Amino acid sequence: MLATHDSDTAQGPIGIFDSGFGGLTILREIRNVMPQYDYVYLGDNARTPYGTRSFELVYEFTRQAVRWLFARGCRLIVLACNTASAKALRSIQQIDLPALDPSRRVLGVIRPTAECIGHYTTSRHIGVLATPGTVRSRTYELEIAKLFPDVVVTSEACPMWVSLVENQEYASEGADYFVRKNIERLMERDSAIDSVILGCTHYPFLLPKIRQYMPAGVKVLPQGDFVAHSLENYLSRHPEMQQRVSTGGTCRFFSTDTPESFNEGAAWFLGDRVSAELAVLE
Ligand code: DGL
Repeated sequence: MLATHDSDTAQGPIGIFDSGFGGLTILREIRNVMPQYDYVYLGDNARTPYGTRSFELVYEFTRQAVRWLFARGCRLIVLACNTASAKALRSIQQIDLPALDPSRRVLGVIRPTAECIGHYTTSRHIGVLATPGTVRSRTYELEIAKLFPDVVVTSEACPMWVSLVENQEYASEGADYFVRKNIERLMERDSAIDSVILGCTHYPFLLPKIRQYMPAGVKVLPQGDFVAHSLENYLSRHPEMQQRVSTGGTCRFFSTDTPESFNEGAAWFLGDRVSAELAVLE
């Protein structure tokens, strides 16, 4: 069990975890929908990107992050990272949670996104743009097949996109080359696609370019809104968890990289001044 002096009913913030800045796109939507709660954002910026790493490493890094957020008092954590949701979530839920604290919860972003997609496509052909790790895991294919077996899913790995975002190059001319290349490849593989999931939380920062190169009529679906409403719904169905989330309306930011570089990035990404603190994961 997790070493904690809290009683079972003690309250804590909601933890939001990503490999870097991408989870800020999820945090922003969650806070829009539920501004009343307290949040702790943790970005593993020192070890980003996760999308090209092995299953074992993503699992180990994510497990460290979950333990760290639990130790900060979080009862509920959202892995605001598709790669971690695809590669680590199931093992954390099945292996780690029972040993750490079975009353706490760790949720991901893939299932809530899969639950919505069937309502957007009319051609029943959808595309997923994601990291190589998420694509290789085939988690989107598996989750969508369970919910909407008639939907054909084509996934395209975009290995450069996270680095473009993390390095604040997402609006540069260099980004055009990679965004166009991956979208063209996806649409060549299935021209009947009418809806495309942005299956990586970093990708909404590339949205203007993605919209520019996506064929007219194809819907581009960032997942922040899906995840935020799914979390709201989850809390309304689980009052025992809702009562354990504190409601001060605060948000603290932590990064495994220097606070200065996180603050600079967050100013770009959120358009907000934040004052991050260093997190040491082990
Ligand atoms: N934001 C992460 C995701 O949603 C990016 C992963 C990475 O670090 O490559 O997959």
